[in-house]
Amino acid sequence: MDFRGFTACAIIALCLIKQSDAQITAWTALDSAGDAATVTVSGTDGTVPVSVVESTAVGGTLFTVTATGNSATYGYTFATDGNPSTLGAIAASTSGAVTLAAGKSFDYETTKTHVFKIIATDAAAAGNVGTATITVTITDTAEFTKYAFCLSSSSVTAGSSVGTLVTDQSSPTFTAATTVDFASFTIDTATGAITVATGVTLEATTQTYYTFTTTAAATGVTTSPATSVYVLINCSSDSGAGQVASLLGVLLLSVATALFY
Ligand SMILES: *[C@@H]1O[C@H](CO)[C@@H](O)[C@H](O)[C@H]1NC(C)=O
Repeated sequence: MDFRGFTACAIIALCLIKQSDAQITAWTALDSAGDAATVTVSGTDGTVPVSVVESTAVGGTLFTVTATGNSATYGYTFATDGNPSTLGAIAASTSGAVTLAAGKSFDYETTKTHVFKIIATDAAAAGNVGTATITVTITDTAEFTKYAFCLSSSSVTAGSSVGTLVTDQSSPTFTAATTVDFASFTIDTATGAITVATGVTLEATTQTYYTFTTTAAATGVTTSPATSVYVLINCSSDSGAGQVASLLGVLLLSVATALFY
C-alpha cells in the first residue's frame, strides 16, 4: 500500500471509529401502560408524546424511555429544566423508567400537559449524550367533589336521604360499595343519591360515623379510584370535621372541606 492508499484507509478507519463512538442513534418510549404509544425517534435527540391518566398513584409509571446506540449502558437523568414541578422520579439511573414522585399528583383540570426532558449519558464515554423530550398529556379521571355528609339528626330511619354524591363529570354512574359500613346504606347508581338501607336505623348512641368506598365512572374518562364516603350523624358543622379527625386520628382537611361543601 502506498502512502496515499494508507492515508485514505486511515481516514476511513478514523471515521468508522468516530461513527461507532457510542452515539445515541434512537430513543424508544413506552407509555404508562407499557405499550401502545411506543415511538421510535431518530438521532441523539427526540420528542415523544405519551399519555398518562390523571389518577396515576405515587410510584406509578409515567413512561419509560430507552436510548439506543452503540453503548450497552446509558445512565438517565432529568435535564435541569426537565422535571416540571418535580413530578417525576427516576429510581435507578440505569433505567429510563420515570414514576410519579412521592407526594405528587396530577390535576387534569389545572394542567393537561407536562414536558419532561431526559438525558441519556453513555456510561463508558461521558461525552455521548442525547436528550429525549417527552410531552405527557394527562387524561381525565372522574373525581368526587362531594363525598362527605353531615346529618344533624341523632336517629336516622330506613329510607331517609343522606345526600347525593357529586363528581366533576356531567353524567356519572356509581358502583355500589361492599365495605363494612355500606350494609347500612344504598346508592342509586344512576344518580349517586345515598339513602339509609331497608331495616336499618342509624342511632348516634350506637355509631355516629360511617364510611364506605365507592367509584364514579363516566364516558370517555377513567373511572375514579375507590373513594371513601363519610356519613356523620348527630353532626353539627362545628363538630363534623373534628369528629372525623379524632376518629381517624388525623386531620383530614379534604374531608373537612367536603363536609361543609
Ligand atoms: C349529640 O351531640 C351532642 C353535641 O355534641 C352531644 O352532647 C350528644 O351527647 C350527642 N348525642 C349522642 C347520642 O351521641
